[in-house]
Order: sequence, then C-alpha cells, then structure tokens
Amino acid sequence: MISRTLPARTLLFLGLCLTGRRGLASAPELKEQPKRIAVIGAGIGGTATTYFLRQEFGVGVKIDLFESGTVGGRLATEEIGGAEYETGGSIIHPLNLHMKHFLDRLGLSQRRDVPSKMAIFDGEQLSFQESDWFIVNFLRMLWRYGFNFLRMHMWVEGVLDKFMRIYQYQQFGYSFSSVERLLHAMGGDSFLLLANQTLEEAMLGAGFSQSFLNDIVAPVTRINYGQSVRINGFVGAVSLAGADPGLWAVDGGNKKVCSGLLYHSKAELIPAVVTAISTKQRPIKTGGMASLYEVNYAGEFGSAHALYDIVVVATPLHQGLSQIAFHGFTPPVPSHFPGHYHQTVTTLVHGLLNTSFLGVTDPPAQFWVSDVLTMEHKGSVINSLSSIDPVHIPTGYSRPPASAHKVWKVFSPQTLTKTQLSQMFLSWDTVLERRWLAYPSYRQPLRRTPPFVLHERLYYLGAVEWAASAMEMSAISARNLALLAHHRWHELEGKIDQEDLHIRLRSEL
Ligand SMILES: Cc1cc2nc3c(=O)[nH]c(=O)nc-3n(C[C@H](O)[C@H](O)[C@H](O)COP(=O)(O)OP(=O)(O)OC[C@H]3O[C@@H](n4cnc5c(N)ncnc54)[C@H](O)[C@@H]3O)c2cc1C
Ligand SMILES: *[C@@H]1O[C@H](CO)[C@@H](O)[C@H](O)[C@H]1NC(C)=O
Ligand SMILES: *[C@@H]1O[C@H](CO)[C@@H](O)[C@H](O)[C@H]1NC(C)=O
Repeated sequence: MISRTLPARTLLFLGLCLTGRRGLASAPELKEQPKRIAVIGAGIGGTATTYFLRQEFGVGVKIDLFESGTVGGRLATEEIGGAEYETGGSIIHPLNLHMKHFLDRLGLSQRRDVPSKMAIFDGEQLSFQESDWFIVNFLRMLWRYGFNFLRMHMWVEGVLDKFMRIYQYQQFGYSFSSVERLLHAMGGDSFLLLANQTLEEAMLGAGFSQSFLNDIVAPVTRINYGQSVRINGFVGAVSLAGADPGLWAVDGGNKKVCSGLLYHSKAELIPAVVTAISTKQRPIKTGGMASLYEVNYAGEFGSAHALYDIVVVATPLHQGLSQIAFHGFTPPVPSHFPGHYHQTVTTLVHGLLNTSFLGVTDPPAQFWVSDVLTMEHKGSVINSLSSIDPVHIPTGYSRPPASAHKVWKVFSPQTLTKTQLSQMFLSWDTVLERRWLAYPSYRQPLRRTPPFVLHERLYYLGAVEWAASAMEMSAISARNLALLAHHRWHELEGKIDQEDLHIRLRSEL
C-alpha cells in the first residue's frame, strides 16, 4: 500500500549514528561522579535509563531499579497453547534506532516476518481490503482518494525525516530540558505547532480530505492509540508511521529487551513499590551540606528507605499508574499530573472467527486478512481485530486462514461481554483479557507537557508520552535524561538546550 523502500538519507543516518563513536561529551570532569542513582519503574523506559546511565556515569556508580510489578511494564505477553503472544506494545518501526541498537547490543534478534494483510471494517462490511498485488491497491486507492495516499506518505516521511535528527543530537551528547525543547530541536516551530493541533486540523490544513481522514486515518489512530483523529498531530504522525511497511517485533517477546538492558547495565533490581521521595540534607566531610533524595519503598520484607544522588521516575505519574508522594519540594511535585490515561482492553481469543460479523461472504478458508482496522461508526464495540502470531515463529510456520482455530487479538475501549464475543466468534476455548491504562488520552492538544526536570536531580521520563507514547519514545527520553543528568551533574551547560543543532552539526560532520 505504501512504498516499500526506506528513504536513502535515513539509512545513511543510521550508519552515521550507530557506528560513530560517542561525540564530544567527554569534557573534563570537574566534579566527583554520583555514588548512587535510583530509577523507578522497569518498563522499557526505566531499563533503557539504567543502560544509558551506566554509559554516562561509568562502572563506579551504584544503580538501583525499583519495580512494583514485572520487568517489562507495558511490554507483556500471555501464554496460549504453549506459545506466547504480545498483549501490550507490539510493533516497532524500522527506523526506531534505539530499539535496533538494543537488539544488537543484547544479542537479540527480530522475530521472523510473516506477511500481513490489512482491511478496514466500516461497521457493516470491509470497505477496503489489501490485495497481494501492490498495483491493485494503488489503483483502488487512487480511484477513491485521489492522491491523498501518496501525499500522506510524503507528509509522514517529512515528519520522520526531522524526527531522525534526535539520534544525531544524542550521538553527539546533546540533551534537552523539556519536551517542548526536544520537539523544537527536531522539527522547529512546525513540530510545536503540530503537537499543538489535532491530527485532524493538521491534515485538513495540509489539504487532505475529510473522507480520507474518516475512512483511512481514523482506523489507524484507533488501532494504535484507541482514539480518534482528534489526538495531537505529532502522536498522529507517529501513529501513521505505525502503518508503514517493515514493522517488526523482538524474537521471543519485546519485554526481553527490558530484562536484557537491566542485566547489561548491572543495575540492581529491587522488587518493591516506591511510596515516597523526599529531599534530605546531609553534612559532608569537606564541610557544607550535600542534598540527597530519600526513596521510601515497600517490598515483600516490609518498608525501607535509601538515599540517592540522582533519581529518575520512569513510571507515569498518573492516577491508576503510580502513587508516589513527594515531600519537601518547592515548588511542590504532584503525585499526579493533569490529564489521564486512556483505557484499552486487549482480549486474546483462541477460537473460530465468525467472518459474517465482518460482512465477509467468501468462505473462511479463503479469508487471509490479518489486521482488521475499524472506522468510527455507530455502535462500534471494537477498535481492531487481528490474527496474531506467537512471539517466536517456528520454522515452517504459516498463518492459518480464518477457517482454523487460532489466536485473535481484539482492542476495545471496554471489556467485551459474552454476547459481544459470541457475535464475533463461532466458538472459542480460551479468552484472556488484559486491561491497560495504555497511553495518554490525547483529547487536548499538547498545551503544556509535564517537565523532564522535577527538581535539581530528580527527573521524569514519562513526560515524553504526552508528545507521543511508544517504546522508542521512552528510549529516546531515557537517553535524553541520562545525558541531561550527566551534564547537569557536571555543569556542562553547553550540552543542554542548544539551538539550531541540525545546522551546526551539519558543519561539524
Ligand atoms: C495495548 C498497548 C499497545 C501498544 N502498542 C504499542 C506498539 O505497538 N508500539 C509501541 O512502540 N508502543 C506501543 N504501546 C506503548 C508502549 O507500550 C509504551 O509507550 C511503553 O511500553 C512505555 O514504557 P515505559 O517504560 O515508559 O512505561 P511502563 O512500561 O508503564 O513502565 C513503568 C513501570 O513502572 C512500574 N511502577 C509504577 N509505579 C511504581 C512504583 N511506585 N514503584 C515501583 N515501580 C512502579 C510499573 O509496574 C511499570 O512496570 C502500546 C501500549 C499498550 C498498553
Ligand atoms: C498552543 O496553542 C495555544 C492556544 O491555542 C497557545 O496559547 C500556545 O502558545 C500554543 N503553543 C505552541 C507551542 O505553539
Ligand atoms: C455471525 O455474525 C452474523 C452477522 O453479525 C450474525 O448474524 C450471526 O448470528 C453470527 N453467527 C453466530 C453463529 O453467532
């Protein structure tokens, strides 16, 4: 449906970024290194933070990683019939360079690709169905939507091109003290504007038709973020990039990256819930006072606390996702920032699909569609329905047609009732449900994101999710915060919030 090649310049970038050595960050280190750092939350964001902190601060610092649930966070799997299936974050874009880098470093590999086929359900029937023939898709789209499709591809690529700049900045050791500054460094005022508009406003403004938005764009934002085209334009572009070809996943499950990063960083995992963080003053040998953070936590063996030089909070500070009290901060740090997280329910069903539910008249043995996206329509219950493959693809595997009992994944805003399930499936033997507070509810355009810096040496990774939530966004935030924590510790102001980096770095190269 969309061109199958990656832009040459982004590939060039890839080479530059990942083979090049760390750039100019190794300025003379004036101050002693920190002794202890705490990271709270062992999702991809927190584990990537421990990895990058180790890279920045070296082997001497002790890094503790607190996790109240399981390592992986929103990357999680469930087992059905002896195989594991992703229930949380599942797809990764081919240009997500941090995720790629982690795989290389950790000796993991990409899951074998099983070709997929997409369709769009309008509430009565499949209004669009991808064909095996690229040219057929192309002509169909041209017929219905004129050049909207081609333009969308170019529009997303334009955003992606600017987005890719972050890798070069980070390679050269530059960091940003707020989400707005990070966005501005990537795409200038146009990115801030994009994040401050709805996707709908941005695309209508760029000349796309309303019917294209309803029929094609909304189904994509619904499957990726469970929300309409009224999400902010930046996360909207990220979402549309999630319909690009070449998407991948980690062989054995995406959460393997988290445990791998944790192992590699030599951080200590503390299975406990952090309940409070407060500021503490302590006299030091050379006279004067040092200010430290006291982290209070409760684990299997009761409550305890420990002191740290630097703390990174890598869980969303929102209702239902964490409950951490911050004591003694001026200005005060809230336990919860404004806004809330959107519920998406993942239901895995091992069963036989009722293809008539989709208005399909072909025999199920000839129904090979793997991803059914949905238009917003009256009485719509589901956001999407996908035939999914296990996290490890055995040799000789091929995805069965709809006539076989197999694993389907349904995304919906609410729990599916038995009646709803029995309309969609003729029979089933397993139903597993996982309710997520999955990503921010992007109802409001991005007016003000939460800060990266909560206090002098206290940082907040999840702020980035208000621009867009994705594994790679958490990884970018992780690297940014490790750099920022390092530069602020060593007072390397020249590496923070620099303007016009894309022009300056071009001449430095
Ligand atoms: C259904 C679904 C589908 C998605 N699809 C995709 C996709 O296809 N591609 C993609 O890139 N992204 C996807 N995402 C988004 C992606 O999963 C997230 O953006 C990413 O995993 C967030 O990682 P994180 O480490 O920042 O946060 P989390 O994974 O939420 O990690 C936070 C961790 O902190 C722990 N914690 C919370 N409070 C405390 C405390 N007080 N003390 C100790 N520990 C605490 C939690 O238990 C959790 O493990 C999806 C998300 C969902 C839910
Ligand atoms: C976003 O929009 C609001 C009002 O519409 C405006 O006040 C604000 O300055 C804008 N911010 C950016 C970064 O463009
Ligand atoms: C399958 O779906 C169709 C259309 O929604 C419905 O009329 C029919 O009753 C369903 N079949 C079963 C066995 O539930």
